[in-house]
Amino acid sequence: VNQEAGRALVVAIDGPSGSGKSSTSRAVAAALGLRYLDTGAMYRATTWWMLQHGVDVHDAAAVATHAQEPVIESTTDPAAPAIRCDGVDVSEAIRGAEVTAAVSAVSAVPEVRARMVALQRDEAERAAAEGSGIVVEGRDIGGVVLPGADLKVFLVASETERARRRALEDALRAGAADPEAAADAAVAATAASLARRDAHDTGRAASPLRRAEGAVEVDATHLTLDEVVAAVVALAVPAGSR
Ligand code: DC
Repeated sequence: VNQEAGRALVVAIDGPSGSGKSSTSRAVAAALGLRYLDTGAMYRATTWWMLQHGVDVHDAAAVATHAQEPVIESTTDPAAPAIRCDGVDVSEAIRGAEVTAAVSAVSAVPEVRARMVALQRDEAERAAAEGSGIVVEGRDIGGVVLPGADLKVFLVASETERARRRALEDALRAGAADPEAAADAAVAATAASLARRDAHDTGRAASPLRRAEGAVEVDATHLTLDEVVAAVVALAVPAGSR
């Protein structure tokens, strides 16, 4: 980690859906006393706004026309991350199937990306100005948003493992009586939907998902959340300087 003395730590965590980015990023931020920004939630909130306003998300020109309009505010406390759009708390709504199905199309629009990147850099600068570091998670953080981050992590996990985790998350969120069984039943459909989103996110022209230069790859397939968090914290704060 190339952190200059006294400067607030900036950590970029990128990776595909279901790799455990959000849980890892929040826990790393909490462990190191840093703020936390979920950039996927910002793309989701923008998507929610487009759906609310009847914008055809597959019409890139229409999405581009409205790209500046959603008023997005993120709470950067890792203990209570939340996101508001036009003053409405959309933290729950953005996890729904409708937004999930539409978010890849919206996040492929360059005008949307340009605005999100600017908002994300503002958030990181605000944190630094207020003397705090930040963990920012997404797809293009280390490569595009914050290429000068002190630590860049590319978090990966096998497709099967990512589908299993995402299916379990969905089952828990839906309040299933037996979440493990519900997850097992849904895992094939979840895998197909993840693969579609991965292909879209990796194949798009504007900032496709890929490991940034200088990013350390961490493979979470066979690690528990605590082990992944410990690995990232160790990278952020090398043993010698603790
Ligand atoms: O991490 P997530 O599943 O909440 O992300 C939602 C979508 O937003 C995902 O399909 C890719 C996109 N995204 C992006 O393009 N760039 C980011 N920095 C974060 C998310």
